[in-house]
Amino acid sequence: MAVRLGDIAPDFQAETSEGEIKFHEWLGNSWGVLFSHPADFTPVCTTELGAVAKLRAEFDKRNVKVVALSVDGIESHKNWINDINETQHTHVNFPIIADPAFEVANLYDMVHPNASDKFTVRSVFVIGADKKVKLTITYPASTGRNFDEILRVIDSLQLTAGYNVATPANWKQGEDVIITMAVKDEDIAAKFPKGSTRIKPYLRTTPQPNL
Ligand code: BEZ
Repeated sequence: MAVRLGDIAPDFQAETSEGEIKFHEWLGNSWGVLFSHPADFTPVCTTELGAVAKLRAEFDKRNVKVVALSVDGIESHKNWINDINETQHTHVNFPIIADPAFEVANLYDMVHPNASDKFTVRSVFVIGADKKVKLTITYPASTGRNFDEILRVIDSLQLTAGYNVATPANWKQGEDVIITMAVKDEDIAAKFPKGSTRIKPYLRTTPQPNL
């Protein structure tokens, strides 16, 4: 069954390139990103894992643990990591789940049989500290993901968890945000001391409140 927004991320136990993990226990109080790959030793995946390794400090800053998944085995993962480190000039610094029996892949509905019955698609799940699924994205095998976009969404999710705001199209850190409809006009000044702009009764903006 599909894993949907607001669901508790299914828990599992799995072998990874960094040892066995129990997913929820491994996450602890952190946020998480779980992302799947079609297969080891494939070109797009190689660049993706290199890109994520280079962004490790950005994920750490946001209290996010990252784990990849591929349906190949541990020895294959370990050999592939050597290739990734060599070709992407980095050091893979997060675990890769080995899922040869497709247990986790099926739990998270990562196999889309009409795309391929042999490979997992490029799924991304962002999981909050409450273990609930906050974001799902599915990319085709031929398109490498934009991990800056995933960080951008995490910034939005972490901001909107703490304030009555939402983020507009293409929003980036530092830009104005939208005051949600839950806030009455008369309460805005107290809640948003940096000021606000009333463009329409339903469209009110304020400088990013957590900066
Ligand atoms: C790749 O990672 O390059 C890839 C994997 C499976 C199918 C197509 C491309």
